[in-house]
Amino acid sequence: MMIKGIKGVKDLLPEEAPRWRFIEDKARHWATTFGFQEIRVPIFEVTTLFARSIGASTDIVEKEMYTFQDRDGTSLTLRPEGTAGTVRAYIEHNRAADPLPQKYFYFGPMFRHERPQAGRLRQFHQFGVESFGMADPRADVEAIALLWQLLSDLTLPALTLEINNLGYTSDRETYKPVLVSYLQQQLSKLCANCQRRIETNPLRVLDCKVPDCRAATEAAPKLAESMSDKARTYFDAVLKGLDSLDIPYHLNHRLVRGLDYYCLTTFEVTTTSLGAQNAVGAGGRYDGLVETLGGPPTPAVGFAVGIERVSMMLPESQAPPPAGDRTVYVAAFGDQGASVGFSVLQDLRRSGIRAVVDFRSGTLKAHLRQADRLKCRYTLMIGDDEVTKGLALLRNMETKGQSDVPLSAVVASIKPLISPS
Ligand code: HAM
Repeated sequence: MMIKGIKGVKDLLPEEAPRWRFIEDKARHWATTFGFQEIRVPIFEVTTLFARSIGASTDIVEKEMYTFQDRDGTSLTLRPEGTAGTVRAYIEHNRAADPLPQKYFYFGPMFRHERPQAGRLRQFHQFGVESFGMADPRADVEAIALLWQLLSDLTLPALTLEINNLGYTSDRETYKPVLVSYLQQQLSKLCANCQRRIETNPLRVLDCKVPDCRAATEAAPKLAESMSDKARTYFDAVLKGLDSLDIPYHLNHRLVRGLDYYCLTTFEVTTTSLGAQNAVGAGGRYDGLVETLGGPPTPAVGFAVGIERVSMMLPESQAPPPAGDRTVYVAAFGDQGASVGFSVLQDLRRSGIRAVVDFRSGTLKAHLRQADRLKCRYTLMIGDDEVTKGLALLRNMETKGQSDVPLSAVVASIKPLISPS
C-alpha cells in the first residue's frame, strides 16, 4: 500500500521552492537591515514551556499541540510557534547580561493540529522576530515597520494593519468583570465555545468569528474604557510613531489574539485576498513573558508571518524567473564529444555557471528535446566533429541563433551571456 503524507502537512516541490527562497531572502534582508540577528531554536521543547507561555486555556494549548512522551516519560511538544522557544533560549543563555539590544529573527516549521484548509496547515512555516529589553513604544513601531516593509516590498495585495491596545494586566483585570457580566446577559446568543470562554478567557469572545457571537458582542463595553492613563499614553505613542513613518493602520478593539502572553500593543496584518485565513502576520508586546518563564523582568515585542500564506499571495510578477534563464544545457554526444562534454560541464559548474545535462540522452535530437523541456536559455553542443575542430556550438534556444565557441574558452564566452543582471 502506498504511504501518503499526513493531512495538513505539505511537501514543498522544486517548482515552489524558489518562491519560498525569494520570500526568505527578502525577510532575512529586511530583518538584518533593521538590526535583527538570526537565531535557530529546536522544534521540540518540554510541554510546560508552551502551556505556561501561550496559556493553558488557549485553543493552541487546549487542543492543537502535538504532544508526546519521551522515553523517560517527559512530556514534549512540537513547537506551535516560535516565541516561547526564543524566550527560553534568551533566558537559558543569559542574554540579558549582554549590553546590546537583543533582537532575533528566525525561520522554521511550526505545528498545530488545526482543521486543514487553504492557508491553514498542521505543519506551517513562520518567519518571526523577537526584540528584547526595550520598553519603548518605538520598539513596537520598529517591529511593525519591519513587518510592513517586508510585506510592501513583496507587493502583497490588499493588506490592512489592524492594531489594538490590550493594556497592562491590571487594566485587563479591571475590565474582565465588566465584560463577563455583559457576556452573561448574552449567554444564549453565544456559541458553545464562547459560553465556555466566559469562564476561562472572556476577552477571546470578542475575537470569535461566529456571526452570532459578533452580533452579541457589538455593544459590549470596551477595554479602552477601562484603560489606565499609562497604557493609553503608551499606545498613543505607538500610533504617533506609525503616523510619523506613514504606516496606515485600523484600530480594532476586537483584536485580542489567541496567545495569552500579550500586553499593550497587539497587531495583525490581514488581507482580503486569502479567504477565511486572512491573517498574514501578527504579533505584539509581551513584557511579562520572560519573567513568567523564570528570567529577569524584560520587556519584549515581536511578530511572525506565515510563509505559506505569503507565498500564496505573492504576485507572479514578483516570483523569481525560472532557473532555465541562467542555465546552459551541455549536449554532448558521440564518444569523444561525450567525454569532452563531461569535462566542459564540470568547468562551467566550477566557474559558477549553472549547467545541466541528461545523461540518458545519446543523440543531439534527444538532448535538444531535454534542453527545451528544462527551458534552458542556451545549449552547448559538442559532438565528435566539434572536438576535432576544437569548437563547440552554442545555440540560443529562444532565437535559435548559433555561434562557434572555442573549446578552450567555453567559460569565458558563456559567462557574459549568462551572468545575472
Ligand atoms: P500567530 O498569530 O499564532 O502568532 O501566528 C502568526 C502567523 O502564522 C499567522 O498570522 C499566520 O500567517 C501563520 N499561521 C498561524 N497558524 C497557521 C496555520 N495553521 N497554517 C498556516 N499559517 C499559520 C504567533 O505565532 C506569535 N508567536 C507571533 C509573535 C511573535 N508574537 C510575538 N512574537
